[in-house]
Amino acid sequence: RRNRKFGPLVGSIDEGTSSARFLVFAAETSELLTYHQIDVQQMCPREGWVEQDPLEILKAVKDCMEITVDNLHKLDIDPADIVAVGMTNQRETVVVWDKYTGEPLYNAIVWLDVRTASTVDEVLAGVQDHNQDCLKSLCGLPVSTYFSAVKVRWLIDNVSKVKQAFKDKRCCFGTIDTWLLWNLTGGKNGGLYITDVTNASRTMLMNIKSLQWDPVLCRFFGVPMDLLPEIRSSSEIYGYLMDGALQGVPISGCLGDQQSALVGQMCLRQGQAKNTYGTGCFLLYNTGQSVVQSNHGLLTTVAYKLGKSATAVYALEGSVAICGAAMKWLRDNLQILEDISDSDKIAQSDTDSSEVYFVPAFSGLYAPFWRKDARSVICGITEDTTSVAIVRAALEAVCFQTRDILDAMNKDCGIPLTKLLVDGGMTVNNYVMQLQADLCGIPFGH
Ligand code: G3P
Repeated sequence: RRNRKFGPLVGSIDEGTSSARFLVFAAETSELLTYHQIDVQQMCPREGWVEQDPLEILKAVKDCMEITVDNLHKLDIDPADIVAVGMTNQRETVVVWDKYTGEPLYNAIVWLDVRTASTVDEVLAGVQDHNQDCLKSLCGLPVSTYFSAVKVRWLIDNVSKVKQAFKDKRCCFGTIDTWLLWNLTGGKNGGLYITDVTNASRTMLMNIKSLQWDPVLCRFFGVPMDLLPEIRSSSEIYGYLMDGALQGVPISGCLGDQQSALVGQMCLRQGQAKNTYGTGCFLLYNTGQSVVQSNHGLLTTVAYKLGKSATAVYALEGSVAICGAAMKWLRDNLQILEDISDSDKIAQSDTDSSEVYFVPAFSGLYAPFWRKDARSVICGITEDTTSVAIVRAALEAVCFQTRDILDAMNKDCGIPLTKLLVDGGMTVNNYVMQLQADLCGIPFGH
């Protein structure tokens, strides 16, 4: 047997809202050996609409894999040492495609998109008191623009190509994991049509207890159950990469990105929690094998199911739609920030204690408020206000929103959280991390 330089390696596909990455780790030490990252465009054809090109996403993932393999060669590491590939992805975002041609029938509708506000109103019109929690006991989620089911409903109602393909039963529908897994395992030539329990738990179509598509939920949203992908566990050999430099390598793990951060942080015991600061901000609290229903605006979600016959573990989740996205907005739209990484220094330099507050509700407010009609405000501006105060207010907004989630979490769980693990891009920002610790009353440490 060949002597492997770093022992067996694992590859990880990470398809997030703003970029795709492929990373290679040494399995025994978890050391990151190399990776490549490619940005993925977001299109906003109308106010509140957020779309991505499914083919661009697929190409970015494939290119990242090829370039990372080249990196391995340059590092004199044999890519044949990669024994398995796992996948993690932005959740809720929906892709529809034709199973015979593999062509997407529409752009991906991204989780942040709020075009379905009227779809939500329509489906709630027949519900007593328009109660947005009417399906919570079945799927753990409130009816919201955030989740996949209303996006699929919108596509069937508004895109004739999709409507026809659904009628002809040649329409595939899935979250990003399903789209990528289908394509990477053969596409129209027999690609796997599957999703994992964590991604399925974000669609509003899966029963949170049986972990199967639920007929009541599918009927409620008018989504044909027989066209949905098969739900699998988060850890099993699903299939094999069909082409490219890693052809033949098994794909053996799949988790929504926030759930995979929970697993990556080793929050594998009940009561452990993490917060990830990405495009949005997502706090997940491991509730073990119990399906805990929140009374304070949090979501019940599947955390992981590590093996075909393993028992599922659940989490309570507090989702904040806008975190890093606010910094991008300051950089790209307001152009008051040249580089997002400057925001730490800028905020620290703001010694004047001006009372500027920013509520970044670009796509409504998620947990614990669930107000799709909310929109952003910046208040407290005086003639002395400069861009510095606005940058600081945007960073503070992330911490205040997380504090709201933590309060809800403490009320639901009864025991205040004493430790919160953090990850994601904004954790390099000391201003944010210190303020977060102060606002939550949890000591800041490494
Ligand atoms: O639910 C949306 C979430 O999965 C997006 O994650 O990392 O792109 O902010 P991220």
